[in-house]
Amino acid sequence: MCGIVGYTGARSAGPLVLDGLKRLEYRGYDSAGLAVLNGEGRIEVFKAPGKISALENALGSRFPSGHTALAHTRWATHGAPNVVNAHPHTDCGGTLALVHNGIIENAPTLRTALVKRGHVFRSETDTEVLVHLVEELHTKGAPLADAVAAALQQVDGTYGIAVISTREPDTVVAARRGSPLLVAIGNGENFVASDASAVLAHTRSVVYLDDGEIAVVRPRDYRILDLSAAEKEKTVTQIEWDLATIERGGYAHFMLKEIMEQPDSLRNALRGRLLEEDGTVRLGGLNLTDEDLLKVRRIVMTACGTSWHAALIGEYMMEELARIPSEVEYASEFRYRNPIVDEHTLVVGISQSGETADTLAALREAKRRGARTLGIVNVVGSTIAREVDGGIYLHAGPEIGVASTKAFTSQIAALALLTLTMGRLRSLSILQGREVVRCLARLPEQVAQVLSKAPHVEQIAERLVRATNVLYLGRGYNFPVALEGALKLKEISYIHAEGYPAAEMKHGPIALIDDLMPVVFIAPQDAVYQKVVSNVEEVKARGGRVIAIVTEGDTGLAKLADQQVEIPETLDLLTPVLSVLPLQLLAYYIAVRRGCNVDQPRNLAKSVTVE
Ligand code: F6R
Repeated sequence: MCGIVGYTGARSAGPLVLDGLKRLEYRGYDSAGLAVLNGEGRIEVFKAPGKISALENALGSRFPSGHTALAHTRWATHGAPNVVNAHPHTDCGGTLALVHNGIIENAPTLRTALVKRGHVFRSETDTEVLVHLVEELHTKGAPLADAVAAALQQVDGTYGIAVISTREPDTVVAARRGSPLLVAIGNGENFVASDASAVLAHTRSVVYLDDGEIAVVRPRDYRILDLSAAEKEKTVTQIEWDLATIERGGYAHFMLKEIMEQPDSLRNALRGRLLEEDGTVRLGGLNLTDEDLLKVRRIVMTACGTSWHAALIGEYMMEELARIPSEVEYASEFRYRNPIVDEHTLVVGISQSGETADTLAALREAKRRGARTLGIVNVVGSTIAREVDGGIYLHAGPEIGVASTKAFTSQIAALALLTLTMGRLRSLSILQGREVVRCLARLPEQVAQVLSKAPHVEQIAERLVRATNVLYLGRGYNFPVALEGALKLKEISYIHAEGYPAAEMKHGPIALIDDLMPVVFIAPQDAVYQKVVSNVEEVKARGGRVIAIVTEGDTGLAKLADQQVEIPETLDLLTPVLSVLPLQLLAYYIAVRRGCNVDQPRNLAKSVTVE
């Protein structure tokens, strides 16, 4: 959600924060703004509803000069996405500018009290209370960092904030509780940002803030304090991604680039981890001994959205191969229930961003109850990655397109690696283990084969452009793929789509089927293939249009399906990595043909850091 960039240093700050903001636009894009502390010691604020290009147009040639600035791209939680509600927000006297990511839960109470004390509010946002709270102390002489710390003691909720003041011209103060924030260290200049991609053009050295920390950032130094102003020692992390990996590289959209990158992202997920001879894998980051792993009696996988779909596949794998009772929970449900977990439960959180608020909270809750926690995470150094006991990094590289694609296939691969580890410690034989390892190793090449069929999928997409509803059906390992195919279509093309276990169709959705209702069957030749064929017959008998994802050489469905896409043969548990690819492409091409903005679909944000 919302992106934040701040700068203080020798260069002109405005263009730098604006450029950083463009790299964060995927986090939220309903309005944007920036504040520059100008040469006369005044704060100039510019805001615009809509995308960052609108802010750029609003600025035109009036770009203020100054060496300290903040910028923000918003994903609205409180108040409509318009100019007044866009950040930065300023105090009554125009001394301060503040940007915020998160939700202040007690904002209404604080606002009423501040208004009674004479503060004048301009926006409907929860954020504005923060700037007035800081103002109360700062204008009475408290240093900016102390005023921020005192203000934050009064708020409930989550925040990543950055503040500048005319009274401390070369300083950005930042603070975090629940929303990601980092300090990026340059040469004679420093940045704060909600995400490393905003600053990668300038530096790779970053310090990740933890909850309850405040950063006081000046051009030549920075200090990290806790809320009681005690100084903290922090590690500087070097970011390994380069800028080229977060640019579009000739593709029309990030989503297409990321779909096409999947042979490489999978290679990276598997690199150095497969031990074919022993029929197992090497996972350096689990931080659990074989004894610890053998004590696990139950696994709970928790996640949101696409990552939750990957978890469903993980559950099937874990029960089939490792014979460990496993279940999947929406993180948002798990965190507020009274879940049964203990020291024999392994709770696995799956998250591309490593910042999803609900997944993070679910893992914290599991830890509090004594469970071991693992993270299957893409973003290195993200909050989940830092807080879990151990985990598996996806190494998929930055995923910028809002609709998750390459992270999903890497999550399935990572779950297969975890399953192999657990299974080989239990009843999975070396021969079975070797077979899984061999099939995993073949996957990147097979993924490339499927992706080479993109032009064929594009033709199929042409016929679905005007559909208003689409049903996705699959069974076994491909039931979660049906859910994922439907989610991809919904989120980027705004066509209503439902994913269902194929046999469940008879219990309701069959009523929807007519010649206007396309039905996508995910029907590789796996253990439930014949059952799915019967379901296809049922749809055809009612005049439905069938698009089938089938195994190469399948002739049975060719007679029934109106169109089909073939995928290579692999083990049942790995078919989702291949069968989801045509569905990602289908959603992409349909959305493009409908003129939708596939990288920034309406109302969505890449990293959901509010609950
Ligand atoms: C869908 C999508 C979302 C995310 C979900 C969890 O395409 O991207 O459903 O999967 O918001 O995000 P992470 O994996 O970052 O926790």
